[in-house]
Amino acid sequence: MILDGRTIAQNIYNSLGEDIAQLKDTPTLGAILVWNNDESLRYIKQKRKFAEKTWINFKLFQFEDTISEEALKSEILKLNNNTEISGYIVQLPLPKHINELRVIRNIDPKKDVDGFHPENQWKVMIWDLTGFAPCTPAGVMKILEHYNITLVWKKISILGRSNIVGKPLTMMCINAGATVTSCNSRTPDISEFTKNSDIVICATGIPHILKAHMTSPDSIVIDVGFSIVNGEIHWDADYNALISQWNSVTPVPGWVGPMTVAMLLSNTYKAHILAHE
Ligand code: GUN
Repeated sequence: MILDGRTIAQNIYNSLGEDIAQLKDTPTLGAILVWNNDESLRYIKQKRKFAEKTWINFKLFQFEDTISEEALKSEILKLNNNTEISGYIVQLPLPKHINELRVIRNIDPKKDVDGFHPENQWKVMIWDLTGFAPCTPAGVMKILEHYNITLVWKKISILGRSNIVGKPLTMMCINAGATVTSCNSRTPDISEFTKNSDIVICATGIPHILKAHMTSPDSIVIDVGFSIVNGEIHWDADYNALISQWNSVTPVPGWVGPMTVAMLLSNTYKAHILAHE
């Protein structure tokens, strides 16, 4: 079975568009862009395109990559106080002279639609649904929910421990009742864990870290990890060669981006509603 993330993302866009059409005021998503590398520009373009398709206004705040951390902080404080902005993101990565964690801490948690602020990360940990969950992990949970894949009793291996995907996803799966193993690139013999897992979620950015012989044929494999080398996208799971051996897999390419953006726009809608309650 193919877990079809693209269709689920489309359903989210459709229903968001309908909800937003009912509102008196249109939500606005802000995006701060400091480093104009090709990849960040591609992400921003995708966020703008889908925001506009769901009737969410999109406002870009672009700065030179020489901007100081202090100056960026004061721009962030301006957005915190700008009532026209429902929620906003700071597109990562930032230039090397700027400390990302310090910058993120200045975002108002109520406008942190990326779910990166420590308060929102903490809310994910204690399962407080008033916060904003990071978008890629939230997208993975949506896919599991859509296919009625219950996590209670399940053994899950999560490959990758980033602050924005692997770690929050680990917490979300624990909250949903799963028994979770967190693996990373230095885990000796990852297959010892993945072979015994009902679900394997890849989020490392290491090409083909997961091969079919490392999983049981009954496993559900969800791959959100990729890297771009010389303009070519490489996925964590060796999908093309080995799809026939797996029970359920998310198709690649083309679903992680739409699903992540769908969750970002859902968070923007939620921020707008919370601010108007
Ligand atoms: N850079 C790569 N992915 C993301 C994301 O989801 N949000 C932000 N802000 N930056 C990113």
